[in-house]
Amino acid sequence: MALHTGDPLYLALASELRSAMEEGRLAPGARLPSIRETATMRRLSMNTVLAAYRLLETRGLVEAKPHSGYFVKAQLPITEGRPLRQAGRARETELAVLDQITAVITAQALPGTVDLSLACPRLGPWYPGEKLGRITSRLLQQRPELITTYSLPPGPPLVRDQIARHAQTLGMKLDPDRVVLTNGCLEALQIALRGVTRPGDTVGIESPTYFSLLPLLAELGLKARELPTHPETGLVLGTLEALLCEKRLAAVIAMPNIHNPMGSIMPLAAKKRLAALVNLHKVPLIEDAIYAELQFRAPLEPAVRAFDADGWVIVCSSFSKTLAPGFRLGWLEGGRFHRELAQIKFASSVAQPALLAEAVGVFLESGGYEAHLRHLRRAYAIQMDRLRGLVADHLPAGTRATSPAGGYLLWVELPEGCSAQGLFQKALAEMITVTPGNLFSPSGRYDRYLRLSACYSLEGPFTRALSTLGRLAREQLASARG
Ligand SMILES: Cc1ncc(COP(=O)(O)O)c(C=O)c1O
Repeated sequence: MALHTGDPLYLALASELRSAMEEGRLAPGARLPSIRETATMRRLSMNTVLAAYRLLETRGLVEAKPHSGYFVKAQLPITEGRPLRQAGRARETELAVLDQITAVITAQALPGTVDLSLACPRLGPWYPGEKLGRITSRLLQQRPELITTYSLPPGPPLVRDQIARHAQTLGMKLDPDRVVLTNGCLEALQIALRGVTRPGDTVGIESPTYFSLLPLLAELGLKARELPTHPETGLVLGTLEALLCEKRLAAVIAMPNIHNPMGSIMPLAAKKRLAALVNLHKVPLIEDAIYAELQFRAPLEPAVRAFDADGWVIVCSSFSKTLAPGFRLGWLEGGRFHRELAQIKFASSVAQPALLAEAVGVFLESGGYEAHLRHLRRAYAIQMDRLRGLVADHLPAGTRATSPAGGYLLWVELPEGCSAQGLFQKALAEMITVTPGNLFSPSGRYDRYLRLSACYSLEGPFTRALSTLGRLAREQLASARG
């Protein structure tokens, strides 16, 4: 097979061998040809082959055995799509899910727990903290008025300009004057929902979905209608189209690029069709693009907003996953709803802190963001392979997981007989927290699923905690099987 042109040779070789493993041409347990054999066969230097083999080893895809060579490790099977059976609306289930969300978040904040699933890197090389700190303190010295006067909307032009420029990498043409700065992506989603719905309305959400949407919808008096998804291709459009035709939805919320928790990307044709559908039926789509820049492959797949003809797609995002969650800097661009949404932001919290917004603007303008994103994409792609490998090693046979196209979240499907909620309780008793799957839908339907996160160091405590989780899951299986 020809090597991919453009990639450094060792990367191209590693990616070719990886494809062979995924497609089963290199089976688990198989020995890779020796470094010398591969080098001779492909006319590569021994160093190039060694670098490729070492990369596969770092990614947990092969293991080196002393004096014997490199061997393919067991692959974690990929989760398959399943039909979504509509559950009757059980209010008690919805309330129980909301309670469980609070319980899980409380547990994750307990000191001394090993967290396997929070969607937020802690420490480590994930955020450019030092550089942002230097920029912020320099700004404070040079322009003290950034904190001694009220921040007013629409906020510093530099950051809005940079957000609009940067959005082009996802195919979006945004007007900087219509970018509204928000308190994280969650406030952007909240403002968008408040602007386009009334209490009692029904909103289409992906199933599974980002679980904080559920308390948000409940708080606004909105009903959630679960829409089917596929673990690799995200939102499935058939049901949505029928509901739109029947005028049963006031809005739709979706994560077309790097879904939380599945890590999926909708194919281009589906994105175009989604944009066409919401324009045709005049129903706003709230596009959550918070992980979109963390796609593993370049060039980035575009946002649905890139195909929006008439302003029916509201795009929401933030810098929480890529730069600085503590800055709480998010944004939205409201399309045809711009005026209402800007007013809601003003009425609820006036504006974002100018100092922090300006600091992000300076960082983006310096070109540092692109380099930082490139680093994150590479690092998370490696982490994700390693996490999948660890799941294959430690969780019971029969476990499956998604194969995310970006981000750092892994959606794990446990074998029949396991209960993620039960596992959460048992793990907590051992000071380990995971996010059980039933949080990710108002009908609590994903009780055999867990979300894990690859944005931590996977060494030592993480691996030990995962191994404990595996033991607990096997105990559950044993007692389920009687
Ligand atoms: C899909 C998704 N949307 C929105 C948010 C909220 O982002 P922020 O922390 O910027 O409010 C998160 C946070 O985890 C998320 O995963």
